[in-house]
Amino acid sequence: MRKLLASLAITMGAVGTAHAQADLQADADAAAGREMAQTCAACHGQAGISPSGAFPNLAGQQMSYLAKQIMDIRDGNRVVPQMAGLVADYSDQDAWDVAAHFAGQEANLGQTSDEDAELLARGEELYRAGDMSKGIPACSACHTPTGVGIGSAVYPALSGQHAEYTISTLQAFASGDRTNSPNNLMGDIASKMSDRDMEAVANYVLGLN
Ligand code: HEC
Ligand code: HEC
Repeated sequence: MRKLLASLAITMGAVGTAHAQADLQADADAAAGREMAQTCAACHGQAGISPSGAFPNLAGQQMSYLAKQIMDIRDGNRVVPQMAGLVADYSDQDAWDVAAHFAGQEANLGQTSDEDAELLARGEELYRAGDMSKGIPACSACHTPTGVGIGSAVYPALSGQHAEYTISTLQAFASGDRTNSPNNLMGDIASKMSDRDMEAVANYVLGLN
């Protein structure tokens, strides 16, 4: 009985948190977020499209995913030394406001390179079908066939992202430097991918839309 009550309390706690975040999302103020985002432009670009593959594009990314990352970075669940201090004072509402601002900007349209036909074919295969022999699921199952992600499930968009960032982030998942995906699901997937697999899928999603 005590166990049951305890698990009920945990479940209700989780539901309470989800409700609170849904309220913050509903109240998100993109105009307020735009003001705060001035300090982000140097790395992520004025229009949310960053000048370098070292920094991810944020424009058009799922709002729920952006808010989660900002809160994860604030809380130390994802370590981004370049952003130390920048979001430390953010409330949850601030995170949703800034997320609303970037989510509303026009997403980047990239161009997949077809110079290496084998690499491109491998990228498409992994993305659309996965690789059963290695236990890699199809990326499209969660990130969707057009790469836009699913906001309600907090699955991020991958389409148009800098290939350099997609590769380094898959490496970070594989090595355990980034551990903030739910149940470490991306750590599990990325650790089954070779360097060539990462390069292939990163090139493929750059031009996906
Ligand atoms: C000095 C450079 C710098 C500044 C300024 C900066 N960032 Fe970042 N940001 C980064 C880097 C580097 C990463 C990616 C780190 C990694 O590889 O995991 C990142 C990642 C992110 C991500 C995760 C994106 C994703 O696709 O997972 C979000 C969201 C983000 N930043 C929001 C912000 C916001 C909001 C601000 C302004 C308050 C800001 N950043 C300012 C360097 C910066
Ligand atoms: C079961 C669902 C699922 C599948 C399948 C999946 N992903 Fe993900 N992926 C996620 C989730 C959820 C996140 C966000 C993690 C977080 O909250 O930090 C994510 C994050 C990512 C990111 C980080 C995005 C960013 O902006 O930092 C990359 C890159 C990525 N996935 C690539 C892939 C690739 C490549 C595949 C296929 C080989 C794949 N994913 C398969 C659910 C999935």
